[in-house]
Amino acid sequence: MADLLLALDVKGKSEAVRVAGACTGEVDAIKIGYPLVLSTGLGIVKDLAKAGIPIIADFKVADIPNTNSLICEEVFGAGCSGIITHAFCGHDSLAACVDAAHDHGGVCFVVCEMSHPGALDFLTGENAERMAGMAKAAGADGIIAPATRPERTAILRDIIGTSMKIYSPGVGAQGAQPEDVKKYVDGIIVGRAIYESADPKSAAHEFRVRAR
Ligand code: XMP
Repeated sequence: MADLLLALDVKGKSEAVRVAGACTGEVDAIKIGYPLVLSTGLGIVKDLAKAGIPIIADFKVADIPNTNSLICEEVFGAGCSGIITHAFCGHDSLAACVDAAHDHGGVCFVVCEMSHPGALDFLTGENAERMAGMAKAAGADGIIAPATRPERTAILRDIIGTSMKIYSPGVGAQGAQPEDVKKYVDGIIVGRAIYESADPKSAAHEFRVRAR
């Protein structure tokens, strides 16, 4: 049984509030990222938070520890409850994000293996497995692993165990189905298949039911 996270990659406040409002009650969290925040500013978090749904900032943080800490302070100060970071910058950069999240009562998720075909160039195999181990050692709350490669997500689950969560993108527009991956993960991430739907509420409802 997996939760449903809405990837709200729309542009502009009115569209974001429209889709989030339509999906209220059908999604367990909203994931925001650069497309929305660059078009609206971080103030969009307060607008979305009115619906009472946790907001996770997918900024795929990848910098030196001090800069990562500064980014996280802005994210959590704006009202987000979680951040998604890369791990390939190393243990100290990762620790900065985990520590900042926990200092603010939030959670930190770590990208280990990405869902798109190009992930196979670097973000897979031994690299992904090492990053999963690093995420566990850092005390991260969970990892991001691909619904498009459920067999890889199963391997990463074995590495992190059951005390950490896995959120999994790739369902819908990238071709994966909730049934492919739900037994390995705690949440599926769905963007275009919901926010580009003529009826986002019904689309979200269907994904949520299928993820259960
Ligand atoms: P779609 O429209 O494809 O959106 O359902 C997917 C959302 O998830 C993000 N994404 C990823 N984030 N690791 C991540 O941390 C990944 O492997 C990955 N693949 C997709 C994407 O940016 C979008 O918001």
